Amino acid sequence: MKLSIPIYRHFGRVAQLARALRSHRRGPWFESRHDHRNIFISKIFVTPSLLQNPKLQQSILSLSGWLSLEEGLLLYRLTREKCDKGAVVEIGSFQGKSTVFMGTALKEKKKGKLYAIDPHLGKTNIGKRDYKPTYKIFMTNIHKFGVDPYIVSIRNTSQEAAKKWKRPISLIFIDGLHDYAHALEDISLWTRHLIDGGIIACHDTFCPYPDVFEAFKKEILYTDKYSYMSFTNSILWAVKGKPNSSAESLRYLYNKNLILFAASFWHTKSLPEKMKQFLVNHLKRIIIKKKVLIK
Ligand SMILES: C[S@@+](CC[C@H](N)C(=O)[O-])C[C@H]1O[C@@H](n2cnc3c(N)ncnc32)[C@H](O)[C@@H]1O
Repeated sequence: MKLSIPIYRHFGRVAQLARALRSHRRGPWFESRHDHRNIFISKIFVTPSLLQNPKLQQSILSLSGWLSLEEGLLLYRLTREKCDKGAVVEIGSFQGKSTVFMGTALKEKKKGKLYAIDPHLGKTNIGKRDYKPTYKIFMTNIHKFGVDPYIVSIRNTSQEAAKKWKRPISLIFIDGLHDYAHALEDISLWTRHLIDGGIIACHDTFCPYPDVFEAFKKEILYTDKYSYMSFTNSILWAVKGKPNSSAESLRYLYNKNLILFAASFWHTKSLPEKMKQFLVNHLKRIIIKKKVLIK
């Protein structure tokens, strides 16, 4: 058989495939082999990916804010891979670091909207104004990264915005006020709009103060409305929906208890910070190795 294209013309494609294969690492949140394959295919043939662009990653990371690169990439991947059936909502945008990570996923997919809710008054703690108003710099940042067509900025508090909200949500990222009462209210107000299979992610659950974790525990961990759970640095996230089988229920019970266990020593004041980090990271490795948190 005679090939119409000389064989050497295929070498570039093969090298590209090999590169993509090498660069591809399996993340803890993949749900199935199918997802794995689809992402792999999209990496090579269809769209550019932030995962393959360290320069862009660093550039987003340099924005002011508290998000680590791992957390930003987690939000990016959840938005890119899991959010086709409903809106993406963010509570607490500050200067747009998390907004740009998630917005980049929508920009790559060329579809979807991220509703970024923040009064932008510069108050990151109750009562105090600790920063200058952030709206201008937020708008500048989302424009700078070209994600503005995918962002709807709602300049209001989470509580006020929730009163008018009617759309189904596929991903809600909560990073507003971090005291117990506000975190609890945010989770309860917004998770009621989550679709089945929708994801809630909360920042600052594994951090020196336990309020957000306690709220997450009450509204998510101690209910039977969620089926999968995982964490990356201080973002704890869960998937809404009942487990489909007894094996899934058991897995859920197991990972829930592991997370509670990790949190109990994380929030122990007497333990040195380094030891806490070591223990939590070690536990997480066990969780991932045993695929406890993977569907
Ligand atoms: C920790 S910062 C968010 C950080 C941001 N996600 C990032 O990646 O840089 C908290 C934000 O919550 C906003 N905020 C304060 N009160 C709020 C409320 N009631 N509803 C929504 N956002 C609020 C503040 O204006 C602040 O920008």
